[in-house]
Amino acid sequence: MAESKPYTVRWGILATGGIAKTFTKDLLVDPSTRDVLDVRHTVVAAASSTSKDRAEAFLKECNVPSGATAYGSYAELVADPSVDIIYVATPHSHHYQNTMLCLKAGKNVLCEKAFTVNAAQAKLLVEEAKKRRLFLMEAVWTRYFPISVELREMVKQGKIGTLQRVFADLSIGEGEKIAESFKPENRMVNLDLAGGALLDLGIYSITWVFQFLYHLQPAGSRRLPSVASSITKYPVTGADEMTSMIFTFPSDPPTHGIATTALRPAHDPDKRGTAGPAIRIQGTRGEIQVFGPAYRPTKYRLVFFPGHGESPVDVEKPIPGGHGMMWEADECARCLRDGKLESEGLGWEESVVIMEVMDEVRRQGGLVYPERIESTEYPLEGF
Ligand SMILES: NC(=O)c1ccc[n+]([C@@H]2O[C@H](COP(=O)([O-])OP(=O)(O)OC[C@H]3O[C@@H](n4cnc5c(N)ncnc54)[C@H](OP(=O)(O)O)[C@@H]3O)[C@@H](O)[C@H]2O)c1
Repeated sequence: MAESKPYTVRWGILATGGIAKTFTKDLLVDPSTRDVLDVRHTVVAAASSTSKDRAEAFLKECNVPSGATAYGSYAELVADPSVDIIYVATPHSHHYQNTMLCLKAGKNVLCEKAFTVNAAQAKLLVEEAKKRRLFLMEAVWTRYFPISVELREMVKQGKIGTLQRVFADLSIGEGEKIAESFKPENRMVNLDLAGGALLDLGIYSITWVFQFLYHLQPAGSRRLPSVASSITKYPVTGADEMTSMIFTFPSDPPTHGIATTALRPAHDPDKRGTAGPAIRIQGTRGEIQVFGPAYRPTKYRLVFFPGHGESPVDVEKPIPGGHGMMWEADECARCLRDGKLESEGLGWEESVVIMEVMDEVRRQGGLVYPERIESTEYPLEGF
């Protein structure tokens, strides 16, 4: 029997910064290197808000095969009929405006995390996608790693008993060099670009908590957690540099999620794993410990209470080719192929709920961004 041809998706890349390069290079990795045979990716266009030259340089640096179009504006990219889906890779301050531009032009979108600056913006994007019957997904790539898929299934099967608590930390260890690393204009600490640990890094700690304590609940019985949180601000700009959150999920019995994030302390201070796992998923029979940065985990350890199994069991999950962003791209391709508007790995409702939770954390910590980037008005000049 003849094998069916892989479904090919034609990508347009909106923005030419650091993560746009990483993602585009991953799109070009041969999917068979990760045993994926049903979908494949081509990059047909890229746009820079700065200049066409910059978009050309981007395509060259990423080794995109000739034939792809370089645009000097996002408006030109969204009008390109040869593009099936656009990857939005601007700072999160710009996601609402840029994603809305794509949707209104009839394009499917994969939008980088954090989805938007606030939940009100996220809801409007979802409404627009729903109204126009377009695919829209928040690019929380970690959810599509085989390790995440495997662990969700393992927990669902009850391997560690009844879930009790999840700890997750993503803290990048800038320590005393923070002022050197992050000048006030750097997007990591710049309020005009929605900078700060919460939206940039804390989203991963939150995603680990939510993958297990929220996502695995049957869709009809998912309930918002209560939130108690604390924020310490970076004195130079007022962005959050250390944010700690305790979520109580109202299941029976309630479960707890402890998500932390910070710019100065580190989840792995000596980069040798001496601090132990960054994530611990705890049940009534044992726990799963996940190692590596929360956004790109490559190893887990299964530890059982005495009498519940042999432990520890260490499992390595190396990333085959590329950085690890290919799996979320494969998910987009399959959703487009199958006519799905949202991904089961992280659906619209969950992205919105996570933005609501982050709104609440910001409210408790008094973290407010400039009105211009909190605004739901569209279009606003200068994006
Ligand atoms: N998934 C991940 O692992 C990961 C990692 C890093 C970042 N991210 C997310 O990806 C997004 C971009 O991060 P990045 O590290 O790639 O940032 P970056 O290197 O600063 O690039 C951002 C790009 O956005 C465009 N842009 C448009 N308006 C801009 C403005 N006013 N200021 C700055 N840039 C502007 C620029 O490209 P053009 O003007 O040429 O279009 C710029 O190169 C963020 O939302 C971040 O949270 C995700």
